[in-house]
Order: sequence, then C-alpha cells, then structure tokens
Amino acid sequence: MSLPWVTAINDADVLAKIYGPIRAGLAQVEDLLRLHLLDGKPHFRRLLEHGIQLGGKRLRPAVVLLAGQVCGQLRQEHFFMGAVVELIHTATLVHDDVLDGAQHRRHLQTVNFRWDTETSILLGDYLFTIAIEMAAQLRDQEISSLVSRAGRKLCEGELRQICERGNFDLTEEEYLQIIEAKTAELYACSAELGAYLARAEEPVRQALSRFGRKVGIAFQIIDDVLDIAGDEQVAGKSLGTDLLKRKATLPVIRLLQMAPAGVREDLRQRLRHASPDDLHGLRMEIAQSDALDYSRQRARQYVEEAIRELTGLPENAALLGLKALAEYVLSRNR
Ligand code: IPE
Ligand code: IPE
Ligand code: MG
Ligand code: MG
Repeated sequence: MSLPWVTAINDADVLAKIYGPIRAGLAQVEDLLRLHLLDGKPHFRRLLEHGIQLGGKRLRPAVVLLAGQVCGQLRQEHFFMGAVVELIHTATLVHDDVLDGAQHRRHLQTVNFRWDTETSILLGDYLFTIAIEMAAQLRDQEISSLVSRAGRKLCEGELRQICERGNFDLTEEEYLQIIEAKTAELYACSAELGAYLARAEEPVRQALSRFGRKVGIAFQIIDDVLDIAGDEQVAGKSLGTDLLKRKATLPVIRLLQMAPAGVREDLRQRLRHASPDDLHGLRMEIAQSDALDYSRQRARQYVEEAIRELTGLPENAALLGLKALAEYVLSRNR
C-alpha cells in the first residue's frame, strides 16, 4: 500500500529513513483509523472522512512504531496505539483551528470553516473519546494512564496558552513550559508507549520518553518559526495566526528581548494590537532580526539532546528512523 502523505513531502532520503522501516505498520495504523472511525456511521461519514484526511504526516504514530521497533518486535498493540495517538492529535487540531480561527489544515478547509464551530467542538470531542475508548480496550492500566495523562497535559498547555494571550512579558522559560505541555507530552507519550509495548526495560522506556519530549519541544519551536516565515501553500495550513491571536512564541520573545529598550514598549503595543494589515510588517521585522535563527538554533539544541538520549540503543533501521525523524523536525517546511 502506498502512503499518500509521504509522497507529499519532498525530502526523499530523510523520509525513506523515517517511514521506510515501518511502512507496513503505518498502513495498519491507517486501516485501524478508518475501521474505528468510519464503520457504521453513515450519518456523518463525510465529516469524519474530512476529519481524518490523509494529509497529516503521521509523525506521532511513526514515533510509536519506531520506538517499539528499536526495542524489539512490533505487536498489534503498537498499531492500535499508533491510531490512538493520531486520533488524539487530530482531535486537538480540530479544536485548535477554532481557537486560532484557522481556515486551512492539511491542504483542506478546516472543519470550523467548512462547517462551523459547533461541529468542530463535537467532532474534536468525538475523536478524543474514540481514542480513549480504544486505549481502554487494551485493558492495561498503564496504557490508559499514559494516554489520559498526555491528554490532560495537552489541554493544560492549550489552556495556559489562551490565558497568556497578549502577554508579551512571557519569558522563554514560560514559553517552553507551555509548548512542552501542549505538544511535547504527546510525543513523549508516543515514544514511551512504543517502548512499553515492546517490553523494554525501565531505563530504556524513560530514555525514549525523554527523546520524544525533546523532539516535541523542537517540533513546536519550528512550527512557531514556520508560522512567521513559512509558506501556506507548502504547509497546507493557515499561518500567521500566532501573531493575530497574540501568542508570544519564541521568535517574538527573542525579538522583544533583543530590541533596544527605547522601542520595546512600542513593539509590545503593536504586537498586542496586531491586525491582518500589520502582519506583513511584523513578519519582516522578525525576519530581519536574529529571532528566527535564534529559535532554529534552540530547536537544534533540543534535537541534539534528543538524539543523545538514544545512546546505547541497538543500531538498527528503527534507530536511524528515530534520528532521521528528529532531524526532519528541524528541516521540515510543512
Ligand atoms: C501540527 O502538527 C500541530 C502542532 C503540534 C504544531 P503536525 O505538523 O504533526 O500536523 P499533521 O498531523 O502533519 O497535519
Ligand atoms: C497547536 O499549536 C498545538 C496543539 C497541541 C494543538 P499550533 O496552533 O501552533 O498548531 P498549528 O500551527 O495550528 O498546526
Ligand atoms: Mg493553531
Ligand atoms: Mg503553529
């Protein structure tokens, strides 16, 4: 079976390393997603199909499978949990697009744009509860705890972010706490699930969890760079929404930090009141500062730390896949 979302990304070598070792497993994840979502739901099938469109990169299931394969043999439960983490991720995206007022996602219209906010809220809840139900079906308390904890942390991150809207005094440390919760927890959970299901020893399981956490932090930093400097056509989603929604992301925090004291307050005011007309000017200003390079550099540090967590694991194709995935997080443009 071909993987349509893979061919849509251009960096062929890296992608072959990431997806190559787990190609068959990812196809199983895809089948499980369709089975658990679409079967027997004729009344809102079109909405569900839209909700799980194949445009996503499936990076979190890839982490489950690669982490599992690095520790031993993949089992049916790996594919199952790959589908679970993708469902949780997709649920958060459906809700996130409401929060950000986004019109495009995965090269399609968002659910809130094509349908409405009410539909998005219900669809996000629905995807999330299917994921929790699937996790419970494995009848393993540890798995249920890991998944629900990640879900809680993720919501805490999104809630904290919304409470900090317009706060341009946010520090880099506070920003890192937010993105660790909203994004990196699910990556950490995915890696830990992969190791746990492969019956890895506790230290290996913890090392893989730390790997996922660090990759996840780097992933979100780069996402925040792309929101300012990316191309919507390539990314396939609405960009610029962080500025419009007055989120203090790392590039903005750095811009403010490095701005001469005399202009800093003026800059803060402009950020607090940014309208679509101000977007181009603000983006240019950020691009001309060192903020994007600095953010990319910070992301690189996290990726290097993540890769160091893999020391001592068997040198197999799955390990190379995890390393390639960590590197891809830095080079991605979608
Ligand atoms: C986007 O995640 C949301 C963030 C956490 C920044 P992805 O870039 O993995 O989205 P898809 O699944 O590939 O669409
Ligand atoms: C959302 O972050 C991360 C979630 C956990 C939902 P973003 O708002 O940056 O994600 P995108 O850019 O819309 O994909
Ligand atoms: Mg968003
Ligand atoms: Mg973003």
